[in-house]
Amino acid sequence: MVLHRNLGPYDTTAIGLGEMPLTLENNLGEDKGLETIHAALDAGCRHIDTAWAYYCSGGEEQTGEKLVRKALQTWDGPRDEVCVATKVGHFRNFVDGKPSWEVDGRPETLIRNGKLSAQALGVDSIDLLYMHRPDPKVPYNESIEAIKQLLDEGVAQYAGVSNTSIELIDVARGILGDRLIAVQNQYSPVHTDTQDTLDYTAKVGLAFVCWSPLGGYRRAKDEKRFGSFRALAKTRGVSYQQIVLAWELAKGDQVFVIPGAHRPETILDSLKAGDLDLTPEELATLD
Ligand SMILES: NC(=O)c1ccc[n+]([C@@H]2O[C@H](COP(=O)([O-])OP(=O)(O)OC[C@H]3O[C@@H](n4cnc5c(N)ncnc54)[C@H](OP(=O)(O)O)[C@@H]3O)[C@@H](O)[C@H]2O)c1
Repeated sequence: MVLHRNLGPYDTTAIGLGEMPLTLENNLGEDKGLETIHAALDAGCRHIDTAWAYYCSGGEEQTGEKLVRKALQTWDGPRDEVCVATKVGHFRNFVDGKPSWEVDGRPETLIRNGKLSAQALGVDSIDLLYMHRPDPKVPYNESIEAIKQLLDEGVAQYAGVSNTSIELIDVARGILGDRLIAVQNQYSPVHTDTQDTLDYTAKVGLAFVCWSPLGGYRRAKDEKRFGSFRALAKTRGVSYQQIVLAWELAKGDQVFVIPGAHRPETILDSLKAGDLDLTPEELATLD
């Protein structure tokens, strides 16, 4: 069984599926996307992470959320057990011919897009809705008040914040109270700058969800940082990705990982990371 943890009130898997590579540029098409999500669910994964903005720049919007909806509608397992998280606050654009990520944290946009997210996911109420990224042009409290309105109206059950600092987590806690359940920040062997927020979530009773836990779906920036993970993987006879995910999960009981995948094989391998019990000595070498 895939390792379970409490994400706020949800008893879900500590290893979720990061949906992003399935609908961004260079994805392998809808059939492969559905196959990948179904494989993850069949293997026991009960946590899917998507976003309003997971679509190809310049293309139809919200294709990630629509893919998740279709995958769940065509899956014959227990839909109610699956915790689906999405995010609002980003959109895609082309800048100088290149795909880019833009932010729009204006309350009216967040409220409109939150409702569109529920529609695209085909739910009355979203399980977990994140504020995707602070918008420097909009005071953070104004964006979070919009998320609160979505909770008050029942568009979402619980909220999270992403790409955020301790100071902004506290702003969100002040407005959302115990309906704020998660912080989703980048965290991996090549990105530990957010360690302070990981530690803070343990202190204040929030979940910490590591995004790009394997260093990113394109290519990890600093391959050298994975050296000790590869060495231990060889000794243990598993993939180094499993060692990375197990190391992250060992950072605290509040930690979740959402590895991305383009195909069933990689997510099926990642889901096994919860079975690895790394010893204190092994963890020390990795640190
Ligand atoms: N909140 C935010 O701002 C934010 C930003 C970025 C991402 N995210 C979330 O975080 C999720 C994960 O991030 P990510 O997709 O960028 O990168 P990632 O999880 O760090 O890496 C994904 C890549 O690792 C490969 N992989 C995964 N498991 C593997 C395994 N067991 N063995 C070998 N290769 C494996 C996949 O390969 P294949 O391609 O071969 O399957 C995929 O290309 C996203 O999908 C998204 O949901 C959130």
